[in-house]
Amino acid sequence: MLYGNGKIDGREEMDINGKSAIVTGAAGGIGRATAVLLAQRGGAQIALVDVNEAGLAETARLVEVAGARASMHRLDLSDIAATEAWFRAHGDVDILHNNAGVVSGLPQFPDVDAARIRWIVDVNVTSLIAATQIAVQAMKKRGGGVIINTVSTVALGTGFYDAMYATTKAAVMMFTRCCAPLKDECNVRVAGMLPGLVDTPILDTTGAGGKSEWMKTVLANNEACKPEDIAGGVIALVEDDSLAGGDWVAVRRLDGQIAYQWGHADTV
Ligand SMILES: NC(=O)c1ccc[n+]([C@@H]2O[C@H](COP(=O)([O-])OP(=O)(O)OC[C@H]3O[C@@H](n4cnc5c(N)ncnc54)[C@H](O)[C@@H]3O)[C@@H](O)[C@H]2O)c1
Repeated sequence: MLYGNGKIDGREEMDINGKSAIVTGAAGGIGRATAVLLAQRGGAQIALVDVNEAGLAETARLVEVAGARASMHRLDLSDIAATEAWFRAHGDVDILHNNAGVVSGLPQFPDVDAARIRWIVDVNVTSLIAATQIAVQAMKKRGGGVIINTVSTVALGTGFYDAMYATTKAAVMMFTRCCAPLKDECNVRVAGMLPGLVDTPILDTTGAGGKSEWMKTVLANNEACKPEDIAGGVIALVEDDSLAGGDWVAVRRLDGQIAYQWGHADTV
C-alpha cells in the first residue's frame, strides 16, 4: 500500500493532512514535484528552499493551486552558517525533505580546485547534516517527525562517473542509516529516497553548458523517471510510520513501469 490515511493493515500511517513541511531544492525537479504532492495530500504549510528564486516562485504558485500555503526562502546551502541560522528560525516542522543537490560539472576530480570540492560536499552533505540536526531537536520537542533525505542509486555502488557526487551521496546514505535509532529515541523517522535516473535540470549541469558525454551515454542506456515518480516514493516514505528508522527505497523505471527496491538501515 503506497498511500492512505489512518491505519491500514494494522500499520500506523502518518496523515500528511494539516502538517507543515520544508522541501529543499524546491525550485524544480524532484523538490517541486514533492512539494506539490505534499500539498495535494493535504499538507498545510510548505516552506520552499532554493537558490533559484524564479523557480521557487513557480513552485509556490503550484503548491497554492494544490491547496497549501507556500513560503519561499532563498537560501544557499553551501553557506553553512546561513543554513544553520535559517533552520534555527524555520526548522520546527513535521516533515523535512532534504532534497537539494548538485553534481560536480566540469572539471571532474582530480582536476577540480579545493573550493569546488568544498562546495559539493557542503551542498550535498554538510548542510543536510546541519538541517537534520536542528530539525531533530525541534521535532523532539513537538513529539516526532519525518525526515526524508534524497540520496541516489549511485550510493548502491552503481555509478562512478562523478567521483565527488557519488562520494557525497554515499555519505548521505550512511548518515541516513546512522539516524535509524532516532525513531525509537524520539519518534523522528529518517528515511532515504534513492532515485535512479530522473529527467530534471540537474542532468544539464554535468557538462560544460549542457549534458556531459557520460550523461548522454547513461541516458541512452537507461529509462528516465519523471520527478512525479520520485515524489510518489517520497510520500510513501513519509506516510508509512510502520517503517523502521533508516529505511530507504530506490525508484527506477524499467520497461515503462516504476520499480521500487526497498532496503533497511542494516542492508545495502
Ligand atoms: N535527476 C537525477 O537523475 C537524480 C538521480 C538521483 C538523485 N538525484 C538527486 O535528486 C535531488 C534533486 O535533484 P533534481 O534531479 O530534482 O535536480 P534539480 O536540479 O531540478 O534540483 C536540485 C535543486 O537544488 C537546488 N540547489 C542547488 N544548489 C543549491 C544551493 N547551494 N542551495 C540551495 N539550493 C540549491 C537547485 O537550484 C535545484 O532547484 C538532488 O539531491 C540530486 O542529487 C537526482
